[in-house]
Amino acid sequence: MNTSYIIAFDQGTTSTRAILFDEKGGIVATSQKELTQHYPQSGWVEHDPMQLFKDQQETFEDVIAKANVPLEAIKAIGITNQRETTIVWDKHTGEPVYNAICWLDKRTEDSCEGLRERGLSRYIAKNTGLVIDSYFSATKIKWILDHVEGAREKAEAGDLLFGTVDSWLIFKFTGKHRTDHTNASRTMLYNIKEMDWDDDLLEELGIPKNMLPQVQPSSSDFGSITYQNTSFPIYGVAGDQQAALFGQGGYKSGMAKNTYGTGCFMLLNTGKKPSFSKSGLITTLCCTLEDKKPKYALEGSVFVGGASIQWLRDQVGIIENAEETNAICQSIPPLKDLFFVPAFNGLGAPYWDGNAKGSIQGLTFSTGRKELVKATVEALAYQVSDLIKAMEQDSGKQIKTLKVDGGACANDYLMQFQADMLDAKVDRPEMLEVTAMGAALLAGIKAGIWTQKDIASLRKVERIFDTKMGVRERNHKQEGWDLAVMRTRSGYA
Ligand code: G3P
Repeated sequence: MNTSYIIAFDQGTTSTRAILFDEKGGIVATSQKELTQHYPQSGWVEHDPMQLFKDQQETFEDVIAKANVPLEAIKAIGITNQRETTIVWDKHTGEPVYNAICWLDKRTEDSCEGLRERGLSRYIAKNTGLVIDSYFSATKIKWILDHVEGAREKAEAGDLLFGTVDSWLIFKFTGKHRTDHTNASRTMLYNIKEMDWDDDLLEELGIPKNMLPQVQPSSSDFGSITYQNTSFPIYGVAGDQQAALFGQGGYKSGMAKNTYGTGCFMLLNTGKKPSFSKSGLITTLCCTLEDKKPKYALEGSVFVGGASIQWLRDQVGIIENAEETNAICQSIPPLKDLFFVPAFNGLGAPYWDGNAKGSIQGLTFSTGRKELVKATVEALAYQVSDLIKAMEQDSGKQIKTLKVDGGACANDYLMQFQADMLDAKVDRPEMLEVTAMGAALLAGIKAGIWTQKDIASLRKVERIFDTKMGVRERNHKQEGWDLAVMRTRSGYA
């Protein structure tokens, strides 16, 4: 029997990749390009939409060339992407009217404060599942319409389109204007109970509805890419965190995963009814299938995860690469009350403090390079523990196992420290490209290569980390961290 293949596009915050999977879930070939970050002002983060498209096109062509498999054996494409990042373009020319405003960008904090003052917090939480924050797309679209000359008039005349990165890529590759449920649920404009764009919010923000893409199940037909006289259907689309949950087998309720990427994103599948957090988490849609009812997840989003390791390398220059942090952490004794809170662009869940700034606390003469590296790595685990505690409070259930993925989970020290701080098991799979695999699975299900039931057997455990730390030590560390976060908050005097 001939083998079938699927290509996943993984357009993330710092890189653009194409990965070719075989039907056993094995990686046959990969192609990757670094994405240029633009910081035009303090707190602003932008990407060039044309670079996003060009890089995706080139990695697609490159992965096909590297894999050297018959083109007709590649049955479908799945797209997964950095979420919330906002692009507005001209419907006729396909030219963006402004750079992509990245999810990390904080320029619309004032606009969010305006929405809070107008008493919209409750309505937005109940209907979109989100807290009002510049993280989501809505106020970024409004910013473009308000600040780019002529944009509002053109949008009202029906000449401009909005999309998150998935929609932008789909439009550039196929000419269709579409998105999936998971990406729509990150815009702060999508009603996750009615499963439709929310007319009241569109009016409140002055965003014309005709700018918005058609919303479809994550595993469905989004149009086709023609390359070398062959048609490749895009059969899967999902925001990267929901794709990772799907790839980890998280279509079942009760399953939690954390991805250690640029940020850290923890999702817990809560089932067919949306459950709303009292502890600072948001409610979001899981990947949807054509013949199944939607499921919801509670999500905790930490804005700075692996990005702080990158900061150590690029800004501070005390490491050469992320890989060496594991050996550095293992080479020194446990830290004594040294905490680094990487609130570079505010604090996300469960604090939602857009104005907080990063801090290092507990410096002494014995603090050196290695200690700073270790405190940075440990901060990832503390932040994830904060999310788990919030989830346990909301769900009333103890999370006994956390499934993990993303670049930084290759760090054994971090995984052990995570298990210690959670007092739970940390389950690391053999194949860490779970996000791309999630997108490939969505596409492969629509293409008839897999069924949802196959997902569990495709995932293999590489190692389980179990807690080794005593209760007293854990409590002491937790108290120190809580205090450090409190001192970092914007209102702390
Ligand atoms: O919500 C933002 C998230 O989707 C970004 O993910 O992997 O690009 O850090 P990543």
